[in-house]
Amino acid sequence: PNAPLASALPRTKSDGKGIPMHDNDRQTKHLSDYAPADYLIDTVDLDMRLEPKRTVIHADLAMRPNPQAQADGPLALNGEGIELLSIAIDGKPLTSDEYSLTATGLTVPNVPTAPFVLSLETACDPEANEALLGLYRSNGAFCTQCEPEGFRRITYFLDRPDVLATYRVRLEADKETNPVLLSNGNPVEHGDIEGTGRHYAIWEDPHPKPSYLFAAVAGDLAKVSDSFTTQSGREVALNIYVEHGKEDRCDWAMESLKNSMKWDEERFGREYDLDVFNIVAVSDFNMGAMENKGLNIFNDKLVLARPDTASDADYAAIEGVIAHEYFHNWTGNRITCRDWFQLCLKEGLTVFRDQEFSADLRAGPVKRILDVRNLKSRQFPEDSGPLAHPVRPGSYIEINNFYTATVYEKGAELCRMLQTTLGRDGFREGLDLYFERHDGQAVTVEDFLAALSDATGKDLTDFMHWYNQAGTPELACSLDYDGQTKTATLNVSQILPATPGQPNKQPMPIPLRLGLLGPNGDDLPLTLQDGTELGDGLLEVTEREQSFTFTDIPSPPTPSVLREFSAPVRLTLNLDLEQIEFLMMHDSDAFNRWQAAQSYAAKLLTDASRDRYDPAPVKGKGAERLAKALALTANEQDLAYAYRAEMLKLPSESDIARELARDIDTDAIREARETLRATIGRTIHGDLAGLYEELAETGPYSPDGISAGKRSMRIAALDLLAGSGMEGELERAAAHYRDATNMTDAIYSLLILAPYDHPLRDEALEDFYERWKDDALVLDKWFAVLARSPRHDSVEIVEGC
Ligand code: PHE
Ligand code: ZN
Repeated sequence: PNAPLASALPRTKSDGKGIPMHDNDRQTKHLSDYAPADYLIDTVDLDMRLEPKRTVIHADLAMRPNPQAQADGPLALNGEGIELLSIAIDGKPLTSDEYSLTATGLTVPNVPTAPFVLSLETACDPEANEALLGLYRSNGAFCTQCEPEGFRRITYFLDRPDVLATYRVRLEADKETNPVLLSNGNPVEHGDIEGTGRHYAIWEDPHPKPSYLFAAVAGDLAKVSDSFTTQSGREVALNIYVEHGKEDRCDWAMESLKNSMKWDEERFGREYDLDVFNIVAVSDFNMGAMENKGLNIFNDKLVLARPDTASDADYAAIEGVIAHEYFHNWTGNRITCRDWFQLCLKEGLTVFRDQEFSADLRAGPVKRILDVRNLKSRQFPEDSGPLAHPVRPGSYIEINNFYTATVYEKGAELCRMLQTTLGRDGFREGLDLYFERHDGQAVTVEDFLAALSDATGKDLTDFMHWYNQAGTPELACSLDYDGQTKTATLNVSQILPATPGQPNKQPMPIPLRLGLLGPNGDDLPLTLQDGTELGDGLLEVTEREQSFTFTDIPSPPTPSVLREFSAPVRLTLNLDLEQIEFLMMHDSDAFNRWQAAQSYAAKLLTDASRDRYDPAPVKGKGAERLAKALALTANEQDLAYAYRAEMLKLPSESDIARELARDIDTDAIREARETLRATIGRTIHGDLAGLYEELAETGPYSPDGISAGKRSMRIAALDLLAGSGMEGELERAAAHYRDATNMTDAIYSLLILAPYDHPLRDEALEDFYERWKDDALVLDKWFAVLARSPRHDSVEIVEGC
């Protein structure tokens, strides 16, 4: 049941159509080859005459040679899949021998040395555009996608993020089919074109931006409106545009937007800077969503939610992605990337910001658990396989392939480590300086680190290794206790595995948060041998091998290492089951307490599925002890329900496969996990059933964290109960489905039922299908349930649908 969309990106190109490429673009591009553009574009004046099959675009580009470059050379513009209708400089048409065209661009050998206006007229075919890049059609509406290199499919341009211009856009279209005309910035004028059935709108964006942030939308869309007043008193009109009939599914996205705007003011002092903020939901979109200035475009599944159509996980994903795109306004838009090698500069930082936002709004440790689970299941495999690449790659062939878990999720972890290292206040001061220094610029990771370093006085030179070196470091730890001197020594070594193209690596600075638990489970005060007191338990590992000795430790402590998952590393530390159980019951760090429960179960599961299936570990004493410890935690009133629910969830089959690393027997893993689930379900049946009854939903559905936590807890109990195989438990799951008054209860009970060969399963699946067969977004969930179901015939079932 945990498939949260943790960031803006579903990782596949959803339509499978891919992105057309030209062969001459296949050469490798290197970061070290960066050179500033020969020319700059200060203003862009676009006039788009929208027609489904042939849209004509007139562009006036105010250009000049770049003083940062020696530009007396030719002007080379990018362009793809468009037809050039006319070209002029300062109003004077060029003859065909004054420029040359290829499949990927336009070159003008001789241009004035003084500022000039380049006028271009181009045509494109939105209807035929299946790449979903540039100007295309979704469900009868016009829509654009320009990141990373889509603007060149609209007009010839210096389509690179370090060319920043202000835009004035005039859109013209048939009024009846396109009553809505949107672009970036603020609306300045609109009107009818007498006698043609057409109308126009003019938009102006005063903030200089790179072409990848351009957007235009036209169509017949419904609008849901609200407003937000910023901390300095600017009233911002907020609009969400959706398909007609979907207006009742926008409340949550709107609320999330207002919460995001408020949070960014409070936490980072960032205020919105236009009079309108528009969001458009479309059903055809390659990715999750896009942060175009003042006009965010979303995959509609990340906007639309109603209690009966969206699960709590969907609500959380919407909240997170709305926030993500909004936060880009400062981290990405006001300050953008110098080149695409710096993608993590906007994405890592913005993912970090949206993670912090969701953590502040919901149970913080639970958000951390979900984010780490996502990192380990998606980024760790990437980092240890043939596609491993640094968070800031040094070269690429196709930038579209670099929107990866490494750039996004590991990139966010690097920002988190910086915050941990500098402290929250230091990090905030550093970001303040970054915003102040670089507003309106296109910058690099080095600029970002320099701002953090200058604001705090901390030398971050070695931190650059985190950006340049691929691979997940292994942190091998051991703890020695000396009863004579009453000292405990933590030995740490960092092992940096070779990755493609990077055989040898430099040691990295690793923030390592630590606790030592005394015999009663309390944290012992941490004093290093030189007298330094570690109030927050934060160690800085900087060498390949390092030891830290703590004094005044009366008896052998239990180590809690890598609290809060303070660095994206693979931790190895030999603890026995008793120590793990001790941490699971007492660790004051919520993350590590959860981690202990996972480690306990993982140890049983790997023991049961290494080589071949051996039921003993998942049926015996150890499994029963785990079950009892889980029951105690599940009943701990002081813990958030959402957190207790996470404690009750067993590691996934792929978690176990990752632990085993080689000779993976998937059937054995599955059997081991099912058996452990049954052992727990039976051993603490009374507790689980009690919790299940106690948490029955009473009031109307609310998506807030506490209500969602209760549902999550109840479903976690239901899952273990169903897994127990005990009399009546399948019926309980089926009843849960029948009684569901919201999508969360419906979809998770369906997921629990799906593997069984039983009429109760068939009935529930049939019922869901009948109810939602006309709603594509909801029906996708039904397909997902079938596809994820661990049955031998899952593939045939899905194919048969
Ligand atoms: N920049 C978008 C985001 O992270 C993702 C995206 C990339 C969308 C490329 C479309 C195309 O929020
Ligand atoms: Zn993003």
